[in-house]
Amino acid sequence: MMIFPVIAFSIICLATSTDFCYDEGYCDPYAWGYFFPTCHPLLESHHSPIDLSYDVTRDEALEPLRLEGFDSVQKGQWRLRNDGHTVVLEVGSGMKVSGGGLPGTYSTLQLHFHWGSLATNGSEHTIHSHRFPMEMHIVNMKSTHPNLTSAMEDQTGLAVLAVFIDVSYAESVSFSPITKALTSVAHKGQSAVVRPFPLANLLPQDHLGLYYRYHGSLTTPPCSQVVLWTVYEVPMIISWSQYEQFAVGVFSTEEEADQDVLLQNNFRHVHPTYSRRVLASREAHLLGAACPAAPPHSGVLLLPLLPLLLSHLEPTS
Ligand SMILES: *[C@@H]1O[C@H](CO)[C@@H](O)[C@H](O)[C@H]1NC(C)=O
Ligand SMILES: *[C@@H]1O[C@H](CO)[C@@H](O)[C@H](O)[C@H]1NC(C)=O
Ligand SMILES: [Zn+2]
Repeated sequence: MMIFPVIAFSIICLATSTDFCYDEGYCDPYAWGYFFPTCHPLLESHHSPIDLSYDVTRDEALEPLRLEGFDSVQKGQWRLRNDGHTVVLEVGSGMKVSGGGLPGTYSTLQLHFHWGSLATNGSEHTIHSHRFPMEMHIVNMKSTHPNLTSAMEDQTGLAVLAVFIDVSYAESVSFSPITKALTSVAHKGQSAVVRPFPLANLLPQDHLGLYYRYHGSLTTPPCSQVVLWTVYEVPMIISWSQYEQFAVGVFSTEEEADQDVLLQNNFRHVHPTYSRRVLASREAHLLGAACPAAPPHSGVLLLPLLPLLLSHLEPTS
């Protein structure tokens, strides 16, 4: 008697299993590998995100990237979309990224966000295990590829610019075209038109020379190891109420769903770097440099332990 319901249940599970999630054991980041084999973090694999820590290597050749079209107002319309995993801003085809050690020119496709909850931070990369409240990803595809399928077969097919977002008291006018539109895309599948604005407004414009570079993966399925990451060191800042609009204003469920489920903590756990080198740009701070520079009697001996201590305080699922 019990067999039939069990079978029926597992068929339902399989039918919905191709979608991933962040909040339930069977489909959260630790389970992605079951449904997306390329998300399985094998030894020596190049997965993202990572913790940016002491072992970064200075590369004097890493100058600021060339950001074409980022300072101007693009023609046409942009579209903000809730895909159930994040909020994506599709930005047309007028912007390009090159230089800064990238092997070619990359066309900007979209940007999206990762965030936490009212009680937790939600950046994907961490610095000395410090997790920022949010992280923005600007996704660019190598211009020689006709489409994403083809770019995802190239080890350096994508270049993603990552920007940390911190929270303070002052409203960020730069982010308001996005935060103002969030209520229109509260539910999965909804989208809204956003008038183009200079994308440079969303970048730490006075600190574009300070970044870290490494080879990694997409942080969502299929987790393809085809991404050259540029992680800017200096965060952008939004207000607490703008942060709340992400943290308690966006749902992973459709409007018609029986129950609204908040989209929160949509970040993947950090992965080992293994033998990968993480490069620091010419101007970036070497992350280990704070230790020798600290005055004596200031707890210097404890500093190397700090990331360890902090990591024990973080939620592990
Ligand atoms: C979360 O971010 C806030 C604001 O930047 C920071 O003060 C706090 O230490 C962070 N919390 C954790 C656990 O990293
Ligand atoms: C992507 O580009 C490749 C190479 O030109 C082509 O063979 C393939 O059909 C394209 N795929 C899609 C989905 O357009
Ligand atoms: Zn992302």
